[in-house]
Amino acid sequence: MSRLDNYEVLNQLKYIDGITIIDNKGTILFTIKFNPIFHSEIREREEILGESLFTVFPSLNEKSSTLLNSLKTGRPIFKGKQEIVDFMGRKIETTNISLPIRAHGKIIGAIELSKERSKEDSISNNAIEINSEMFRGDKRLLESIRPERAKYTLKDIITDNEQMKNLKRLTEKTAKGNSPVFIYGETGTGKELFAQSLHNASNRAEKPFIAQNCAAIPEALIESILFGTIKGSFTGAENNPGLFEIAEGGTIFLDEINSMPIHLQSKLLRVLQDGYIRRLGDRNIRKVNVRIITASNKRPEDCVKDKDMRLDLYYRLCVMTLNIPPLRERINDIKPLLDFFISKYNVLLHKNITNVSKEVYDFLLRYNWPGNVRELEHIVEFAINQIDEWEDTLQMKDIEDRVKNFIKHSEEEFQIEPLKDAVARLEKIMIEKAINKTKNNVSQAAKLLEIPRQTLQNKIRLYEIVPKS
Ligand SMILES: Nc1ncnc2c1ncn2[C@@H]1O[C@H](COP(=O)(O)OP(=O)(O)OP(=O)(O)O)[C@@H](O)[C@H]1O
Ligand SMILES: [Mg+2]
Repeated sequence: MSRLDNYEVLNQLKYIDGITIIDNKGTILFTIKFNPIFHSEIREREEILGESLFTVFPSLNEKSSTLLNSLKTGRPIFKGKQEIVDFMGRKIETTNISLPIRAHGKIIGAIELSKERSKEDSISNNAIEINSEMFRGDKRLLESIRPERAKYTLKDIITDNEQMKNLKRLTEKTAKGNSPVFIYGETGTGKELFAQSLHNASNRAEKPFIAQNCAAIPEALIESILFGTIKGSFTGAENNPGLFEIAEGGTIFLDEINSMPIHLQSKLLRVLQDGYIRRLGDRNIRKVNVRIITASNKRPEDCVKDKDMRLDLYYRLCVMTLNIPPLRERINDIKPLLDFFISKYNVLLHKNITNVSKEVYDFLLRYNWPGNVRELEHIVEFAINQIDEWEDTLQMKDIEDRVKNFIKHSEEEFQIEPLKDAVARLEKIMIEKAINKTKNNVSQAAKLLEIPRQTLQNKIRLYEIVPKS
């Protein structure tokens, strides 16, 4: 390992969540996990000491365990990626540093420091990580790039809503083909979830899934990142594959496609039409076999109208469109999602919430969910974080701080009052508007409001409306 590589790994690890030590037979000698997410898949610590690594983690094998690999090869493994399965059958991915332990010239065991790879790490940001590594032009780093696997499947999409169930069925059917798919949905509705699930439901599932957010990289780099470079094409450029080549045989997910510069959209069109890419500065073209999924939280028609997307690209990309409805239009999903997130954070944060007060539930049904499912998850995470251990019911006081603005707003607008007062208030607002619009001309205002002039005069007096000068 060069010093640069070590630096890269340490830089990426930043902190650790657990330590495990095994002897040369793979028996666990010591383990400590600082991150509650691990607690679900290991039993009591004492219980697993002296057990074989494979008994405790049935999902691991000699190949996939970085600890075992380090033991067998006698070499340190940095940045190894490992998947373990927790008690709910969910995958947890870790980044590990595994080192052999040597005594008197013999390898007597291995030690591993691990960090859980959060969703955020392994979803789109990973591609950016790959890109930034690519751009250092370091060959060894490039060789170490192993594209992420998509972790979500259709089963992870929780819903009780008919429209969503249809969408899942459509996704499953669409997955079997190769045509491009466009996913539209407001922020936090689950576009990435659908993109990964589609990949996993396709026969490309064993191949790479590469996600790239087009808005997250500087315009000048997008082309080289997507299509690659050849040595000398610009200062410092190396022979590097782009994401399309890295995704060979698999799926590329281009998020926020409407942020892709128009001139690059025509290059994308070429891949879509003939399946060829050209690395930056290359005279040759290369054949690629990659399925393209794109997403945007702006409607595709609006992208075209606002000239964010070429019309020809629109026709190509939107062969299949998945429209994910916002959460406020599927309120029967609130209950199952709420239950799911409560169990998730109960486990993660060692709480025991089993009920939700009627008040909270009614509120959640009324809420307008600007951040959709992600927002619901954040509200639950926030509440369970600060709730006391002995509490078993989620109450309004637990979520109030998170949703204060909405409550204030909705109370102002919707508080129940005698109907005649509410009507009078609206009447006053309308008259003021009409008077202002007509610059204090009562006859014209009366026409706009479609009432006799005298009636308007009476009401102006009644409501004490003072014309603005
Ligand atoms: N139906 C669902 N069941 C379970 N989890 C969901 C569901 N929909 C969304 N989520 C969760 O909500 C979060 C947001 O989902 P995701 O990142 O896929 O949204 P997005 O549409 O890509 O958002 P953005 O436009 O902001 O990128 C994720 O943590 C995801 O796992
Ligand atoms: Mg997304």
